[in-house]
Order: sequence, then C-alpha cells, then structure tokens
Amino acid sequence: MKGIVLAGGYGTRLKPASLAVIKQLMPVYNKPMIFYPLSTLMLTGIRDILIISTPNDTPKFKQLFGDGKRLGVRFFYKVQKTPKGIAEALIIGKEFIKNDSVVLILGDNIFYGANLEELLISAKESVEQRGGAYLFCYRVKDPTRYGIARFDNNMRLIEIIEKPKDPPSNWAVTGIYFYDSTCVEIASSLRPSKRGELEITDINNWYIKKKSVSYSLLGSGYAWLDMGTFQSMLDAQNFIETIETRQGLKIGSVEEIAYRKGYIKKEGLRYFIELYKGSEYADYLQEILNEKD
Ligand code: G1P
Repeated sequence: MKGIVLAGGYGTRLKPASLAVIKQLMPVYNKPMIFYPLSTLMLTGIRDILIISTPNDTPKFKQLFGDGKRLGVRFFYKVQKTPKGIAEALIIGKEFIKNDSVVLILGDNIFYGANLEELLISAKESVEQRGGAYLFCYRVKDPTRYGIARFDNNMRLIEIIEKPKDPPSNWAVTGIYFYDSTCVEIASSLRPSKRGELEITDINNWYIKKKSVSYSLLGSGYAWLDMGTFQSMLDAQNFIETIETRQGLKIGSVEEIAYRKGYIKKEGLRYFIELYKGSEYADYLQEILNEKD
C-alpha cells in the first residue's frame, strides 16, 4: 500500500500567518504540523509516501525531507496547481498509486490513542486483502463542519453527508482514507460539488453504494484533531504539550517511529541527534538511542 499526504490548500482561515508559511509547515508545539500525519502513515507501515503541495511550497517540503532515505522511507512529490478538493489528490497521485492500494491522509490531521497502530495496520490489511475502502469515524460536538456518517439501526454505514445542515449523527469521517486502486478512476469521474470541490465524500459514498466500506469508530480513548483555524491549532498544541510534558514521550516523532519500526538503525538515529543538537528534541532521541535493546 502507498501513502499520500495532502499538504496544500489556501490556508484561508489562517491568514496572515499562512502568507508567510504554509499551514502544514507551521509548528504545532515542537515540530512541523506535517510530522503528525506523516508519523501516522509510518505507524501504519507505509514506506512509499507522496507529498502533494502547492507550487510554492513543494520545494520546501523537499528541502525538509529529501528523498526520505534518512527516515528509511521513500518520499515523492507532486504539485497541486490550485486546490480543487481532497479527492483531486488521488488524480494527482495516479502514476504513483498505479495498481496499488493507497491511504490518503490530510496534512493537518492528528491521530492519537492506545492501539492506534494496530487499528491502522488492520485497516491497511483489510483493504489489501479484500479491497474496498476503510474509514475512521470520530464523535464531534459540531457535526455541521465535517463529512458525517449516517448509520442504519444495525450501525451499518449507509451514507456520508458533507457538512450537513441537519446532521444524521455526531460521527465525523476523519481525514484518513484507505482505498483499493479503483479510487483513482472514481476520482477521475467526479464532478465538482456545489462548493466547487472534488469531494472525498463522493468517493466514500461510491464505495458505500458498492457495499465495500468498512469502518472503525474511534471512541473516547482516542484523539482526532484537525487544524484549520488558530483556535484548533492552539487546542492541538496544548494537547500535545500536555501529554508530552507529563509523559516525557513525544507524539508524532517521525525519527522515533522510523527507529522503532526498524526502518533506520542506531547510525540513522544518530544523524538526527546531530542535526537537532542543542534542542530538547535531540536529547529525547538520545534517550531512545540509549535504551537497552
Ligand atoms: C474535509 C472533508 C470532510 C472531513 C474533513 C476531515 O473537510 O471534506 O468530509 O470530515 O475534511 O478533516 P474540509 O477540510 O474540506 O472542511
């Protein structure tokens, strides 16, 4: 399975900050925002990752991550000329995806919680083995802001409604989507919605109609945060800071995950310790390096 991080957009609600730096490179507590969704893909075991961003910002992502070798993964880059909706990522990623399955994650989404790794891996395996789509839903207080799931009495997912005025539930479809290779064709056949976007919700509804969607509800033991506004960014920062300070563990450390997953060896981790020298982040990686095997 391949992975795509969509890290584009206008950052409309984050102006003027987003005129200086693209949202997904803004710091969220102590690391660039994109570290969080990237770490989620790496936790899932994805090692071929396409980063899609704006013409202006793609070079900055390249500068930050290069070809991915340092993290034991492969990064590829593609430009989205103008943002035309989340589903466009699958069209842009056509040659990258080829006949493989794919997991698409939004560049401003944070996932956190116990057993998350196992859940993600089982979603990946489900799509690899049986095809179709796999989604994750999360209970939100304001369902009018998201793609919202409608279930029948047996909790079968029967429809997703984008930004519903009259929400059928409080379960939002989160910004991580696992698909078989059909998703590229479906995306190519989409027409823009009323808000002028190629909607990821239309892709999901296509799979629902074919009865080939599985999903998991992320319950109270999980955090799902998205960061489109200053308030939600601040909330995310506070959340990360609270947990990291209390536990002395980092959330979204791509270097740690690469090391623990065996993508890089001690030598590889030492590179980042040197690169981040003088920071608390380097001390953290040093502690990991010092752990007994
Ligand atoms: C998008 C999707 C929506 C999904 C949300 C998750 O919303 O359209 O279905 O629930 O991401 O972050 P948007 O960011 O376009 O408001």
